[in-house]
Amino acid sequence: MAFPTDENVIVGLERADDAGVYKISDDIAIIQTVDFFTPVVDDPYSFGQIAAANALSDIYAMGGIPKTAMNLVAFPVNTMDMSVLRQILEGGIDKIREAGAVLIGGHSIEDKELKYGLSVTGFIHPSRVLTKRNLNAGDMLILTKPLGTGIVNTAIKGGLASPEVIERATRLMAALNKDAAEVMQKYPVHACTDITGFGLLGHLAEMVIGSDLSVRLMANQIPMIIEAIEYARIGFVPGGAYKNRTFRQSMVEFSSSTDIFVQDILFDPQTSGGLLICVEKNSAEPLLNDLHHKGVTDAAMIGEVLSVPEEKIVVD
Ligand code: CO
Ligand code: CO
Ligand code: CO
Repeated sequence: MAFPTDENVIVGLERADDAGVYKISDDIAIIQTVDFFTPVVDDPYSFGQIAAANALSDIYAMGGIPKTAMNLVAFPVNTMDMSVLRQILEGGIDKIREAGAVLIGGHSIEDKELKYGLSVTGFIHPSRVLTKRNLNAGDMLILTKPLGTGIVNTAIKGGLASPEVIERATRLMAALNKDAAEVMQKYPVHACTDITGFGLLGHLAEMVIGSDLSVRLMANQIPMIIEAIEYARIGFVPGGAYKNRTFRQSMVEFSSSTDIFVQDILFDPQTSGGLLICVEKNSAEPLLNDLHHKGVTDAAMIGEVLSVPEEKIVVD
């Protein structure tokens, strides 16, 4: 398929990334993204927060600042109380406000199935756009949120997740990637994406493909919701995790010591996951400390970029 384009498109559909980027002037480009989905938690206000944080995240993943947002709503008017919708929108508005952006419009339709999300526009300097490309040999990888929310969401639907774990996962999914994105601006970051539907290994694969490099992950350094390993063991692994594995397993080499359920978590589709930041080696430790000081306490150094041209992901 051929897409219409022009010389001001910095990131377009030819090179699928977290968001599209279009240059307005020499100093400013707009970042545009849209995301919406069906509820992942029962509480309407929390769902609104999570859906908004998830939509805003792609602006942060490009290195930008969110400026304007528009609501996208599909609502079963005849079967659901309007107060539910009001709480969802409240959750979204609170996240937009926290992001320092404004809500300037939206669109709603009647639908059998509830859906909510945002389209978001952000600003960035055209020369500071962070795509999934540009890994350098020796770079280090930092992940800013623990993995496992897809498995926890599956366990919630199965009625097995404990209230504490639901609370923790909800807090993680509702957390903006704002602080992490602000901190990384001060460091020589080469590439960035956010972890969503393809899971850590799926999104990392997108970074590795075409790089002529490989990546080594240290499984025991990767932050995880520890209970997700238990839930995976009982079988609460979402179908998307298996799809992600089938799609990318030819690129991944697990060491024999990597637990099969830990592997599931590395493929687990995330809702509103953290940023995966690829940073110059000498700045990795200072960036990680800075993230911790700014409250991104789950951030961890999880791997490194190798000058091995096979485009493999080795998990030790
Ligand atoms: Co993204
Ligand atoms: Co997205
Ligand atoms: Co990016």
